[in-house]
Formats: sequence, C-alpha cells, structure tokens
Amino acid sequence: MAASVTVVDHPLVQHKLTLLRDRERSTQGFRNLLNEIGMLLAYEVTRDLPLEPVMIETPIQTMEGRQIQGKKLVLAPILRAGVGFLDGMLSLLPSARVAHIGLYRDPDTLEAVEYYFKAPSDLADRTVLVLDPMLATANSAVAALQRLKQRGAQDLRFVCLLAAPEGIARFQAAHPDVPIWTAAIDSHLDDHGYIVPGLGDAGDRMYGTR
Ligand code: PRP
Ligand code: URA
Repeated sequence: MAASVTVVDHPLVQHKLTLLRDRERSTQGFRNLLNEIGMLLAYEVTRDLPLEPVMIETPIQTMEGRQIQGKKLVLAPILRAGVGFLDGMLSLLPSARVAHIGLYRDPDTLEAVEYYFKAPSDLADRTVLVLDPMLATANSAVAALQRLKQRGAQDLRFVCLLAAPEGIARFQAAHPDVPIWTAAIDSHLDDHGYIVPGLGDAGDRMYGTR
C-alpha cells in the first residue's frame, strides 16, 4: 500500500495559495507567498517527528524537557522552484542541512534532466524533506527521490503546493514508501503537462523569467 497523501487545508495555507494562483500576482508577491506557505507546510510536515527526553536546568530547577530525536533534517529543494520553499522552512528549521537537486523538465518529452546534485554524505541517518511546489507528471519528483535513495536516503517526505492526480498516481507507483504533503490536488494535466487550473510555471513566476 502507498504512503499517505495529506492535503494541508489550514485556512492560512488555502488563503495564501489563492492569492498566489492569481495571474496578476507580482514576482515579489509570488515569491513572498511561496516563502510564507513553505513555513506553514514545514509546521505540518514535521508534526509527527519523534521526540526524546532531555534533562535541562531552568532558572528554578532541573526538569525533563523534550527534543526532536536524531540528526538534523535535510531540506532538499528541486531547482529552481523548490528553492521558493527554502527560506520559509529554514526559518522554522534553522539547523537543517540542505541538498540541492538540479532538474529541468524537457519541454518535448516532459522527462526530467539532471544538471546538478549536491547532498550531505550521511543521508541514510537523516529525515529528508524533498521540496517542489509542483507535482505534475511527477517525472521530476520520481527522479529526485531515486537519486536521493541511491545516495542512501531512507526516510523521505515530499512537500508540494499543487499536485495533479496523474502525478500522485505515478509518484505512488514509483515510491510507495514516501508520503506526500500538498496544499491542493488540482483537476488534471493539460496536453503540455501543466497542472489545471494550477498556477502556471512556478519557476518562471518566482524568478520573473519567461
Ligand atoms: C517544474 C517544477 C517541477 C516540475 C514539475 O520545474 O518546478 O520541478 O516542473 O513537473 P513534473 O512533475 O512534470 O516533472 P521545471 O522543469 O519547469 O524547472 P524550473 O523549476 O527550473 O523552472
Ligand atoms: N511545472 C510547473 O511549473 N507548472 C506546472 O503546471 C507543471 C509543471
């Protein structure tokens, strides 16, 4: 059985997502909203991280507190658009390590083409949050996860903003062990592999390219 798909339906996330989808949103506005939503998604995707006891001294007495177990998380944005989540997530997870995965979607074949990969060497010991606003055909996500698994990652979570049903199906067939968090599941993909109704090209809107 495939891992879970969680739709983060928090009102703040849904409100900001609606603002961000608007074609009139400026580059700066788009980037700010992606950043803010990244922070809110970080809160949701870390909700069930295991805690361990730790003894601390308050100014009054010794007590048993709780801290997140294990090594620091890894944030793994898929370039370019995944970087849009990074600052927001780092503001809640300031000690996280960062892996960069450079992939672009060939416009004709829609296959993912890798051009950069750099990750911490001890991925096997860490929880890895893979970040990309768009899960369309899932070719990029599937390739990114394959690459991270090749490098030893075992505990992976995928965080996006919009997912197409076709992309979720392909993702779950290729990586049934990896849970997904998304702010919305849209209707379908168009003939060019764009999410409908979607938000257009996330990387272009974020960086003002086109
Ligand atoms: C976009 C997006 C995802 C990918 C999703 O990247 O940021 O990485 O497409 O589509 P898929 O699920 O069909 O693979 P793009 O290739 O446009 O690169 P960019 O982020 O550099 O613009
Ligand atoms: N990549 C995007 O940026 N947008 C889509 O709708 C599909 C893939």
